[in-house]
Amino acid sequence: MLVLGIESSCDETAAAVVSDGRFLLSNVVASQIDVHSRYGGVVPEIASRKHIEAIVPVILQALDDAEVTLNDIEGIAVTIGPGLVGSLLVGLSVAKAIAFAGGIPFVGVNHLEGHVASIFLTEEKVAFPFVALVVSGGHTTIYLVKGFENLAVLGQTRDDAAGEAFDKGAKLLGLGYPGGVVIDQLAKRGERDWLKFPRAMKDSLDFSFSGLKTALLTCIKRRGCPFTEKELPDVAASYQEAIADVLVEKTLKAAKMSSIFRVVVCGGVAANSRLRELFYENADNKGFEVFIPPPVLCTDNAAMIAALGEHLLRAGKFDALNLNAISRWPSIPNSFHCRRGESSHLG
Ligand code: KG4
Ligand code: ZN
Repeated sequence: MLVLGIESSCDETAAAVVSDGRFLLSNVVASQIDVHSRYGGVVPEIASRKHIEAIVPVILQALDDAEVTLNDIEGIAVTIGPGLVGSLLVGLSVAKAIAFAGGIPFVGVNHLEGHVASIFLTEEKVAFPFVALVVSGGHTTIYLVKGFENLAVLGQTRDDAAGEAFDKGAKLLGLGYPGGVVIDQLAKRGERDWLKFPRAMKDSLDFSFSGLKTALLTCIKRRGCPFTEKELPDVAASYQEAIADVLVEKTLKAAKMSSIFRVVVCGGVAANSRLRELFYENADNKGFEVFIPPPVLCTDNAAMIAALGEHLLRAGKFDALNLNAISRWPSIPNSFHCRRGESSHLG
């Protein structure tokens, strides 16, 4: 089945064409970073307007790159949440319009489940069940994944997401927005144990990153002056290590406790080079198989939405044209099934 995926939950307008839920025919992402960076974060109203400008050209580009037309598209998958409601509605409205005009079945999907599905777009053959760490700008959650749409939360952040910790840390250091990539680059030249940052909630599978940000702020205030150019790589490396360390440790602990030795890492922060390195190193030492999509499929994209959508559409789970966006999708176990009123698959 040839599926057109559409994603507009935050500050990336994206469209992709995926065949059989696995084969990427095109993957177009229009980033709004330049517009938002001057404000130090995403401005929701501006994001919605930029999505409106970009959405049609991005979809046309995705069709063009895949060398198909709308007549070839057999299904449409669109992100309906969680995310910024104004942004989500742009992608959803366009998806509905195309579905209605072309008589094409369409389905709304959960963005976080989409991130998990990104692993099926790679060469890797990952079998269910597996443990997945979804680590992005808004979420940091460990799931036990028994199937598509069959996820149970094993641990999640109690405050900031890991991506937020990167972004807020970078802001405190005057490194600009978004901070994850900048810290990743800078840290490559730094000493990871130059500063000792706290690792919170050691005995739990839940995360807490707000103390880390406060520790950095306290450190800056105590010094009374900004870090020097020479010191910044060391601070970035130490700060990044504190985030990567707990992500790896808790995810592998969750997998071990579930007696599952396959681990998937996805979401924007999974693009982090040190996090990837630490996961692969620890997995090798401890007998886990770790699967991480290439960075371009970790950050927000529509291919992952199409991959999941293809599975749902094939299972007959299409949506009606009165489908609404769900800005805040509760991350409690089984919540993924609320929308379609299904009972839980989980024991
Ligand atoms: O999944 P994503 O693209 O959007 C959300 O769903 O939130 O994740 C964005 C987050 C941002 O916080 C960004 O700073 C972070 O992913 N990120 C990174 C890297 N690339 C993106 N964090 C650390 N290292 C990176 N290389
Ligand atoms: Zn995301």
